[in-house]
Amino acid sequence: MNQPSMQGLEINTPAFVKNARLIAWVADMAALCKPDTVYWCDGSDAEYQRLCQQLVNAGTFKKLNEAKRPNSFLAHSDPTDVARVEDRTYICSANKEDAGPTNNWMAPEAMRATLQPLFDGCMKGRTMYVVPFSMGPLGSPIAHIGIELSDSAYVAVNMKIMTRMGKAVFDVLGVNGSFVPCVHTVGAPLAQGQADVKWPCNKTKYIVHYPETREIWSYGSGYGGNALLGKKCFALRIASNMGRDEGWLAEHMLILGVTTPAGKKYHVAAAFPSACGKTNFSMLVPPAGFDGWKVTTIGDDIAWIKPAADGKLYAINPEAGYFGVAPGTNMLTNPNCMLSVRGNTIFTNVALTDDGDVWWEGMEQDAPGKALPAHLIDWQGKDWTPEIAKQTGAKAAHPNSRFTVAATNNPALDSAWDDPKGVAIDAFIFGGRRSTTVPLVTEARSWTEGVYMAATMGSETTAAATGQAGVVRRDPFAMLPFAGYNMSDYFQHWLDMGEKLQAMGAALPKIYTTNWFRKGADGKFAWPGYGENMRVLAWMIDRIEGTGQGQDHVTGVSPGYDDLNWTGLDFSAAQWDSVTRIDKAAWLEELELHTELFEQLAYHLPRELGDTKAAIERRLAA
Ligand code: OXD
Ligand code: MN
Repeated sequence: MNQPSMQGLEINTPAFVKNARLIAWVADMAALCKPDTVYWCDGSDAEYQRLCQQLVNAGTFKKLNEAKRPNSFLAHSDPTDVARVEDRTYICSANKEDAGPTNNWMAPEAMRATLQPLFDGCMKGRTMYVVPFSMGPLGSPIAHIGIELSDSAYVAVNMKIMTRMGKAVFDVLGVNGSFVPCVHTVGAPLAQGQADVKWPCNKTKYIVHYPETREIWSYGSGYGGNALLGKKCFALRIASNMGRDEGWLAEHMLILGVTTPAGKKYHVAAAFPSACGKTNFSMLVPPAGFDGWKVTTIGDDIAWIKPAADGKLYAINPEAGYFGVAPGTNMLTNPNCMLSVRGNTIFTNVALTDDGDVWWEGMEQDAPGKALPAHLIDWQGKDWTPEIAKQTGAKAAHPNSRFTVAATNNPALDSAWDDPKGVAIDAFIFGGRRSTTVPLVTEARSWTEGVYMAATMGSETTAAATGQAGVVRRDPFAMLPFAGYNMSDYFQHWLDMGEKLQAMGAALPKIYTTNWFRKGADGKFAWPGYGENMRVLAWMIDRIEGTGQGQDHVTGVSPGYDDLNWTGLDFSAAQWDSVTRIDKAAWLEELELHTELFEQLAYHLPRELGDTKAAIERRLAA
């Protein structure tokens, strides 16, 4: 069906697209953005290859050495467009209180007036890709559909990996189905005859969400969560609003399966702030001493969790791929990830080797004495040598450089990862990055205590967002940049969910906090982390099974040295003390920060959180 837009542009709606609202919206957006052409993605492999070749021809992609990294590409972004832009991200709810003090807010009409001139003609000289995607298995009762309009072929090919993208989405959508409209532009229209750059973007950036109308508008960036709108914008910010209204949870959580030697399988959902090892934990390889244990991946970043009639919480991974942080990944820290990215991968902002492969800092740290590459092209296209790095501190790969890879590449993929029903969650973990204060692992004594621990979680910032890395900030539920509504209402939603499940009579999932990142006096990490985290995970499973021992303390229950399996690891009782000790003075200071957080979140802050804090204070004073 050829449908001219107001400008006479052919919209070229394919015959299999029957959704009237979608057809009208695409025509309206084409009239606003004024692309040269409109292209409806079908999600086929042939289309993926064609678009990748187009990106190679445009200089955005470099094809990697086919023998070393088959069917894989490397993109180097503009150096100003390397991470999510939290200070440019807005929740434009009708009332400011509904966005809350942790989100940037502008009144919807004011934001629409701001964006209108920016989007007017923003796609001139470019193609508008219509990208149909399902977050979650197609047709699953937990899944939802989005349509992203983008003027970036880089976005279209990344969305093919990161979501269930393609023609089948239109069938699920049918004539009347609903979708979340997502409009994305790099904000770099081309005048007639103007040559394009390799990574078009705009120094003005807006990542805007209208929660009431469930819309996403993104301007000026081509990078990650700013541009792949299914991920943070839809699956967290908009979906958290859907979850609040409809009685479910959209969380910044990996989901893993853990099978015991006795063959019993449990499912754990774990929230960690960005770039704190979620992908590593979700692909964990049990260490020596854990024969017969198996960890399998359902998701590495986001979980949609709905209560079912049996009173249990069922989780799906709404995504279909991983957009993971590359630096630090190697065959020791995450062998399953290294195997996942052996081919069919898009790399962004890592370094290029002289033989056409990729490299990033930490890749060499999986074997003693492994040499650094003698020469690389760094993420900014400059020569890099170990000598230059020593002199200038230049990183070959940007600290937030990424790989985009399909979940099906993962050798540890769980057989239920695509199950429309989801998997029943047995435990939640909340883990911050803290050099001090917070012990290795704590079990909450109740759902409310768990919500308190998650709500007050602090973490040192990382390179996943622009801004200063390494500063401790409160990151409630690891959702600070992702909760699409008022944080205190979000806490209330979690408390309500607990009450609802309790009323249904099922056992609630246990709640844990972890901190893999305590440092010793030498400034080095005191806990070995990575696969060794299995020792903590196994203790949690023991607790769920009712066999694990623990000791009560001010904030919850923690294992003693003898409660963990140490087979295969030389870790002394003194070292254990250094990762678990509770320092009263540090906790008194920590509680002052909780007070500050609660003052900031006073509007609608659930009373239960203040009560839980008072109980901790009483225990500290005792
Ligand atoms: C991510 C993030 O990319 O949290 O997953 O920043
Ligand atoms: Mn994330």
